[in-house]
Amino acid sequence: MGEEIKNLDDLIWAYRLSRVLQVANGLGVFELLSTRRLDLAAICQSCKSKPDLTERLLITCVAMGLLGKEQRRYFNTDLANKYLTRGQKLYQGNMIAHSATIWHFWDKLEDEIREVKKEASPAEDHRNFIMAMENITLGGRGKLFLDNIDLSGRKKMFDVGAGPATYSVLACKRYPELKSVVFDLPETIAIAKEVILRENLKDQITVVEGNWDTDDFGCGNDVVLFSNVLHGGENETAMKLKKAYDSLIPGGLIVIQEFLLNENKTGPLIPALFNVMVGAFSVEELKRLIKEAGFTNVEIPAVSKDFSSTWLKALKA
Ligand SMILES: C[S@@+](CC[C@H](N)C(=O)[O-])C[C@H]1O[C@@H](n2cnc3c(N)ncnc32)[C@H](O)[C@@H]1O
Repeated sequence: MGEEIKNLDDLIWAYRLSRVLQVANGLGVFELLSTRRLDLAAICQSCKSKPDLTERLLITCVAMGLLGKEQRRYFNTDLANKYLTRGQKLYQGNMIAHSATIWHFWDKLEDEIREVKKEASPAEDHRNFIMAMENITLGGRGKLFLDNIDLSGRKKMFDVGAGPATYSVLACKRYPELKSVVFDLPETIAIAKEVILRENLKDQITVVEGNWDTDDFGCGNDVVLFSNVLHGGENETAMKLKKAYDSLIPGGLIVIQEFLLNENKTGPLIPALFNVMVGAFSVEELKRLIKEAGFTNVEIPAVSKDFSSTWLKALKA
């Protein structure tokens, strides 16, 4: 990722870090861990918090350098002990609590600044979400895909939850013999159609409106692409992988891009933040699910810290 776009990306998402620090401080995590190492269950019991989200918050605190984690137990880093535990000369917990108290002002700033409050528009929000996927891909992830995923000789790709169809567009331009089927919900397909038209790729890319919960992925595919769509729970992911397997010809390829945590679940930071809101597997968890779906030759052709992107591929024997 270029330096400028990386700096911009940090600015875009800076509020997530503040919020994690505020919430961990508010729950009393750093007080609790000032004198002992505790596991998730003990932390939840003391903080009266829900295990799933608490674990995601703790993982992020580890990735932020506020906590450490060894053998499933969390502890304060020197930084947390010096500044985030009451009684220390340089204690900053009151300031963090204060920043949380006035958070609502910053949340409402746009409403406050406008003469007339902007009407909520779910359609505009959805378009922003979908076109954000094109932004991030063109910002660098697309090059990572083209440089590391070889689709030579492949004829038919099924792009699951394709969003604005950016990966299909890139792949079809690189491999003129490839045809891609873009599969997504109707409201997203409407946007993908505009992109396909804009890119003049109607002959190579077709669209299918559908829902991965209820529809299958067709048949005769020799590539199934899952880019940033395998981050639900294990059952949902296993279901999608099985549909991919069933739709592929022998020798067919699955290609996956995801935000993934490391094996010990201590980071990296961006997947940890993604995990707080959406959920993220560790690399090992996702590899296991891919193998359980019947795939072989599971490989990781690319990992990019800059783009927080891990690419995996596997074959249907
Ligand atoms: C994070 S975006 C990824 C878009 C694209 N694959 C990319 O990486 O640029 C997730 C996509 O999944 C689609 N999606 C969400 N739920 C779906 C469902 N039940 N069936 C099919 N697509 C779905 C969304 O419309 C969206 O386009």
